[in-house]
Amino acid sequence: MENIKTYIQENKNRFINELIELLKIPSVSADSAYSQDVIDTSEAVKSSLEQAGCDKVEICETDGYPIVYGEKIIDPNLPTVLVYGHYDVQPPDPMELWTSPPFEPLIKKTEIHPEGAIFARGACDDKGQMYMHVKAVEYMISNNCLPCNVKFMIEGEEEVGSVNLKTFVENNTAKLKNDVILISDTGMISNQQPSITTGLRGLSYVEVEVTGPNRDLHSGLYGGAVANPINILSKMIASLHDENNRITIPGFYDKVEELSLEERTEMAKAPFDIEDYKKALDLNDVYGEEGYVTNERNAIRPTLDVNGIWGGYTGEGAKTVIPSKAFAKISMRLVPNQDWEEITELFTKHFTAIAPKAVKVKVTPHHGGQGYVTPIDSIGYKAANMAYNETFGIPAIPVRSGGSIPIVALFEKELKSKTILMGFGLDSDAIHSPNEHFGIFNYLKGIETIPLFYKYFVELSK
Ligand code: BES
Ligand code: MN
Ligand code: MN
Repeated sequence: MENIKTYIQENKNRFINELIELLKIPSVSADSAYSQDVIDTSEAVKSSLEQAGCDKVEICETDGYPIVYGEKIIDPNLPTVLVYGHYDVQPPDPMELWTSPPFEPLIKKTEIHPEGAIFARGACDDKGQMYMHVKAVEYMISNNCLPCNVKFMIEGEEEVGSVNLKTFVENNTAKLKNDVILISDTGMISNQQPSITTGLRGLSYVEVEVTGPNRDLHSGLYGGAVANPINILSKMIASLHDENNRITIPGFYDKVEELSLEERTEMAKAPFDIEDYKKALDLNDVYGEEGYVTNERNAIRPTLDVNGIWGGYTGEGAKTVIPSKAFAKISMRLVPNQDWEEITELFTKHFTAIAPKAVKVKVTPHHGGQGYVTPIDSIGYKAANMAYNETFGIPAIPVRSGGSIPIVALFEKELKSKTILMGFGLDSDAIHSPNEHFGIFNYLKGIETIPLFYKYFVELSK
């Protein structure tokens, strides 16, 4: 049997080239202009699972984009690992800020990635991280060292809320039966300090529409006499936070779990430098809820953010107009115990209530999901930690992340198993931003670490 390090050395270029091919397909799930590309990507993922040696590889149709399923069952009496990932990506815009085109992957060296990183939309989130699992399983199958069963479920709608995956999971609990779910779709602290994500925030995403007059008006003839929906919307949005940056929606914090001082002290041990943080983002100062530090504000505290706001005239030059409508997209990140549907209702009620009589308000919920926290004494967590310890030479630190993978809470509810989030991305990899990239070091380290998770998980399960 060939060891994984040798296997990676021998196949490194092929691993990189295969990922580059996958990254060339613009699988943007949010924009229907790319729908054929999303479908083509599902086919490419299917072929890659077949090539890796999986059996029963299939495209599972849904009301949206397909889910790719594959499995290798070596013995029904052995444990089963379910790997989840997504092949869809975020829209690449703003295009002009990319230093190389988002769907023409290019390897470039950076300060943090001296060995080079692949620049492309989806490089880290999540094609690169998902593909590490395909290559790790390829290694284990071809070298006869897969120690248990494995199932793959790779979806194409994560970036738009996993609505159809929810139905698929609910309807296929027997097919998806497993002992642990393994996901690489998060990050780690640094290439010197691995971490395991033990928490994800929930999400409620809504769109609001404020209507004033029934048509755009001359801002001189009507200005001052009718409500300007942009002025009103701005005022309403501004009122959603108080002077301590706490959210003002009644009931919003009712179910928020307050962490003990002990837990907060434990969290504060993770290496973090506020000056580096500010420097990396070109900020003079950070900003957030009073009474909490940065690493708490973006992990254990809920938030409300406007993601986009529009209306009126934004073209060249000046046009004097009072617009008929103003819009905003608003996301609320939630913490465990906050129910996203309840929060969506609280938001809708409050936002409608604070609108002056002079405008009409419409709130449209988009999607959402519950938060997630996982204990660090499970077999899965221990196995992951042992794997990191071996490949990085240092144990992983448990970290709660601010991001969301809404389907994880549903997995636990429907499939009754824990999810282990073994992420290999870095915060600086610019996911969802221009110039997203994934370090070659991270990609190969992931492929090296994953088989060890299987090994230790099976050993600890005995
Ligand atoms: N992979 C991310 C989530 C993530 C990234 C979690 C880094 C932790 C660390 C995922 O693809 C994502 O972007 N999720 C969305 C939610 C979804 C419903 C659109 C998010 O967090 O905005
Ligand atoms: Mn992702
Ligand atoms: Mn994402």
